[in-house]
Amino acid sequence: MISFRINGMKADVSASPDTPLLWVLRDHLRLTGTKYGCGIALCGACTVHLDGEAVRSCVTPLSAAAGRDVITIEGIGEIDAGKKVQAAWIEMDVPQCGYCQSGQIMSAASLLKKHPHPTDAQISEAMEGNLCRCGTYNRIRAAIKMAGSAE
Ligand code: FES
Ligand code: FES
Repeated sequence: MISFRINGMKADVSASPDTPLLWVLRDHLRLTGTKYGCGIALCGACTVHLDGEAVRSCVTPLSAAAGRDVITIEGIGEIDAGKKVQAAWIEMDVPQCGYCQSGQIMSAASLLKKHPHPTDAQISEAMEGNLCRCGTYNRIRAAIKMAGSAE
């Protein structure tokens, strides 16, 4: 049994310690907002926060979450940066198909937690690992700027 906190609540999971956190979230905890894209840390679709840091849950073993705080797209609206990002995403109508968007939002929220008013370079660095097949990059950048200027 491995215990951690998920979106502020305690979770006890019986699974092999090397099970990818992504599968624990989706199959054990039924939190399906976190998406599977590549499985090898190349697309960002599976991004969650581990103690506030954006991580790729497809390559993060369950054991790495033991005793720590995990936040997913289902819980990100509970933190200030997440609220701002979600509001800007709606305002800018960012998603197209939507598949990559939970990962995009998780990376953007992590960025705003560290840098409430991010520069272009900081946005590029934080978001470069999040791919979007639909090419919503311009709206993503505009939404992050909007979130970064919100009070
Ligand atoms: S599914 Fe994890 S980075 Fe692509
Ligand atoms: S909105 Fe379709 S992949 Fe990003």
